[in-house]
Amino acid sequence: MSLDRRKELVKIAQEEGLLILEDDPYGCVRFEGEDLPTLYSLDDVGVVLYAGSFSKILAPGTRVGWAVGPKDLIRTMTVFKQGVDTCTSVVAQALVYKYCQSGNLDAFLPKIVDHYRRKRDAMEEAFKKYLPLEEVEYVTPHGGFFYWLTTPNILAEELFNRALEKKVAFVCGAPFFPNGGGEHSFRMCFTFASPEDTDRGIKALGEAMREILAQKG
Ligand SMILES: Cc1ncc(COP(=O)(O)O)c(C=O)c1O
Repeated sequence: MSLDRRKELVKIAQEEGLLILEDDPYGCVRFEGEDLPTLYSLDDVGVVLYAGSFSKILAPGTRVGWAVGPKDLIRTMTVFKQGVDTCTSVVAQALVYKYCQSGNLDAFLPKIVDHYRRKRDAMEEAFKKYLPLEEVEYVTPHGGFFYWLTTPNILAEELFNRALEKKVAFVCGAPFFPNGGGEHSFRMCFTFASPEDTDRGIKALGEAMREILAQKG
């Protein structure tokens, strides 16, 4: 989201009395490009609640996060969460707390970002090797965990079913569009698989695409 759009969004929320939940677990995972201010930091009224997660910057599955925002709202969230799951594992919270307090996270962050950058690059290299590139649109992500691909002549759901037979899975695009659309798009995570598995998986994905295109004639 561009800086102008961020400012506009915060302004609208302030004027209309709306609350924004800034769900930003990937904000610290930036490979290149410019860091933009969070919505939270652009808000001087208190309409933004910021949420982050250690799962993306410390270790997958940490499942400890943090929230920053109006105190009364955080208190309400805490009580609500207690009703849902009592609370996040206290041991996990204590481990994360100690880890951060000792300054380890600051030193670790560039390493994990570098690790994920290499995985991103491995996936894009595999795209170039195996996908019918004239049939695929994507933008190299400057951060985060995912590629967003669009295949104008292939339905994501059809590709999903074909790819699954080859043991490759992704997230279809349509659920990301509450007002309809996204049927030709899908999301691929590059951070989980090893570069070798990514290479094999994208090769299979390319085969699935070519099979579908050949059937269409
Ligand atoms: C957009 C977004 N928000 C929040 C989370 C929650 O992460 P966790 O429950 O691992 O802290 C995720 C995890 O995948 C996510 O993708």
